[in-house]
Amino acid sequence: MQKLTVPALRARKGQGPKLAMLTAYDATMARLLDEGGADILLVGDSLGMVVQGLPTTLPVTVEEICYHGRAVARGARRAHLVGDMPFMSFQLSSEAALASAGKMMKEGSFEAVKLEGGVAVAEHIARIVAAGIPVMGHVGLTPQSVHAMGGFRVQGKTDDAASRVMMDAKAVAEAGAYAVVLEGLPATLAQRITDSVDIPTIGIGAGPGCDGQVLVCYDFLGMFRELAPKFVKRYAELGDAVVAATQRYVEEVRTGAFPAPEHCFTSARSKAEAASAAPAGASSGGYGPTEDG
Ligand code: KIV
Repeated sequence: MQKLTVPALRARKGQGPKLAMLTAYDATMARLLDEGGADILLVGDSLGMVVQGLPTTLPVTVEEICYHGRAVARGARRAHLVGDMPFMSFQLSSEAALASAGKMMKEGSFEAVKLEGGVAVAEHIARIVAAGIPVMGHVGLTPQSVHAMGGFRVQGKTDDAASRVMMDAKAVAEAGAYAVVLEGLPATLAQRITDSVDIPTIGIGAGPGCDGQVLVCYDFLGMFRELAPKFVKRYAELGDAVVAATQRYVEEVRTGAFPAPEHCFTSARSKAEAASAAPAGASSGGYGPTEDG
């Protein structure tokens, strides 16, 4: 299975097929999403909220992103793997940004990094790109600025705000980013940005005009039920399925219905006893796998 590369992803700008990106945080999920055909897997700092149960993404560290990156890399055969640069891992200076990005590439098994911000971080993006590390930008609703934005709010609604987001997206593209996430924007603005930059735009809550879409895996599978943003479409109700399966398991453990004979191992002695007790020609009636030794 051939890995999707940065040039291959860039070539899909305007040509299609549209890019399908999802977040992933562990090897098992990554393997399934990869098998389902996801083009890009992002170890997002959303892991703070959906894996660690925090109210924001701010406390997530580079080490945590790298730990999850190594796990996801073991499951992703074809999908391109991106690591999210956590809050304060890149804002201080271009040198600090490059050091964090380098650490993520070396210790997180990533093929690219993503960072939030536009004009204010364009210099940092250029520095990282100059060192040969592909960068994905992220403008519009940037969750690491949740307190400055006064909550997780749609951005770019007024003309002034829309021009600022447009400038951010252009700055990110000019700095050398190979793609940019557009989050929480009016669909018309996201379409205009998509038409104005020569790199793929990947939308989340930004309408259908983008060159691709991204969702948090626990959201699209119906597993993260604390928040239900309007832009999330649930493609499965795994949250309900997990609760129902757990209820059945609890019940069967309590009644003794689980484990059943087919879930039990037999010893050589009990197998021989079962065989000698059986009428000639009858099957041993043995169940489940037997163990050697
Ligand atoms: O952290 C994250 O999961 C993200 C995506 C939702 C784009 O940044």
